[in-house]
Amino acid sequence: MNICCIGAGYVGGPTMAMIALKCPDLRVNVVDMNAARIAAWNEGHLPIYEPGLDAVVAEARGRNLFFSTDVAGGIRDADIIFVAVNTPTKSYGVGAGRAADLRFIESVARTIAEHANGDKIIVEKSTIPVKTADAIQSIVTANSRGHKFQVLSNPEFLAEGTAVADLLAPDRVLIGGERTPDGDRAVATLVSVYARWVPRERIITTNLWSSEISKLVANAFLAQRISSINSISALCEATGADVDEVANAIGKDSRIGPKFLKASVGFGGSCFQKDILNLTYLCESFGLPDVAAYWTQVVAMNDWQKSRFSGRIVKELFNTVSDKKIAVLGFAFKKDTNDTRESAAINVCRDLLAERAHVSVYDPKVPAAEIRADTLGKGVENPLFTVAPDAYAACAGAHAIAIVTEWDEFRTLDYARIYAAMPKPAFLFDGRNIIDLAALRKIGFRASGIGKPL
Ligand code: UDX
Ligand code: UDX
Repeated sequence: MNICCIGAGYVGGPTMAMIALKCPDLRVNVVDMNAARIAAWNEGHLPIYEPGLDAVVAEARGRNLFFSTDVAGGIRDADIIFVAVNTPTKSYGVGAGRAADLRFIESVARTIAEHANGDKIIVEKSTIPVKTADAIQSIVTANSRGHKFQVLSNPEFLAEGTAVADLLAPDRVLIGGERTPDGDRAVATLVSVYARWVPRERIITTNLWSSEISKLVANAFLAQRISSINSISALCEATGADVDEVANAIGKDSRIGPKFLKASVGFGGSCFQKDILNLTYLCESFGLPDVAAYWTQVVAMNDWQKSRFSGRIVKELFNTVSDKKIAVLGFAFKKDTNDTRESAAINVCRDLLAERAHVSVYDPKVPAAEIRADTLGKGVENPLFTVAPDAYAACAGAHAIAIVTEWDEFRTLDYARIYAAMPKPAFLFDGRNIIDLAALRKIGFRASGIGKPL
């Protein structure tokens, strides 16, 4: 059996690497129109930073895992074609700012129909609105030269930074297919791939629409928990409660559970906001404005939390940060990834620059050019904005430090040394609640976390 995956990004790359690792008898071709990205997958320096991925790729690449720009060839040779292209939020026309932009999905469907030389199973890996399988099916059928296509939905639930562990031992694999004999056969084929390393009871099969919708709903529920605890973080700050103590107390209830209750400067990443906007747009299109309004609030709370964090910095620094230096530690949307999509750091930096602060950013994995482009726009310069080579340089002479990403190295910095090089009073705002505030205060910092008193 031959597998092809179109899209060598954060989802397609790691997922196919794991399939190739676990299924040495299958040939896995990952194709992408971005030649630079493919070249990076083929060289030692992978285009995405993901702990443990190097070793997985090194073992399978050249054996049964191949990266190439030959999309047509990949399609021709494949029995199963995964579609893992990006589905950004639409920025134009109807649904702008909320609906998913499906032009890449459509163009891939047309390309598949054009180059298919036999029957194919098409697997949606990209997160897409419910009923997209219908659209893919119509396009490939209308353009096929007598070949049959089965469209399956197999959403990916890996989280960045833990992709390898998530793929090795997923909580579940979800496969949706048409409930017809041909559909059932296609589902069974895909189940047989995952069953080589995932226990059978963790492989769930559903109808197509349940699978498509489950991905959006899973992300909406996860994001909702973060917005819920973040809303409470504001109440904690106002009352003197500690949000981590509250999270611990409620998380011990087995019905609530302890995960995803970490208050933060706001969730980022390519999925949460996009998928909720997409969900609300779908609800409205299906005549359910009340459901849409309910979920919209999760995103609104997240936006509020991000601006609340930068607002608090300004307020505590005696209502002015103009000409003061602020160090921003961390720029990725979470630790252990170089991905900055929708990172709260972007908002925090922009807010502080709007207040005319000097902002100095350090991130261990995000390249300086990317930090600059994300904050200022490509090619735009701002003398107030610098990217520092390490945390100490970022913090030297700063009036305040804002921790925005929870990188482990920020837990173990020499804060006494950093304090010594700062004007007084020196402030630290821990937007991730990773540092012992009492220890910082002993050094002399005026320190606060999110959802904790200053
Ligand atoms: C994933 C999911 O697939 C997407 O649905 C989810 O919403 C975000 O995460 P991801 O892997 O993170 O996407 O996206 P990205 O890293 O942008 O990778 C997509 C790749 O597809 C890119 O390398 C792009 O070059 C490629 N692509 C896109 C094609 O090869 N052909 C196209 O027509 C469009
Ligand atoms: C998410 C889903 O977890 C994953 O299942 C899906 O496939 C893609 O979207 P990802 O965005 O990669 O994965 O990372 P995740 O760990 O979910 O974190 C998302 C954001 O929420 C990050 O900015 C993270 O820092 C934040 N977060 C997470 C919190 O602020 N508090 C928490 O308790 C957990």
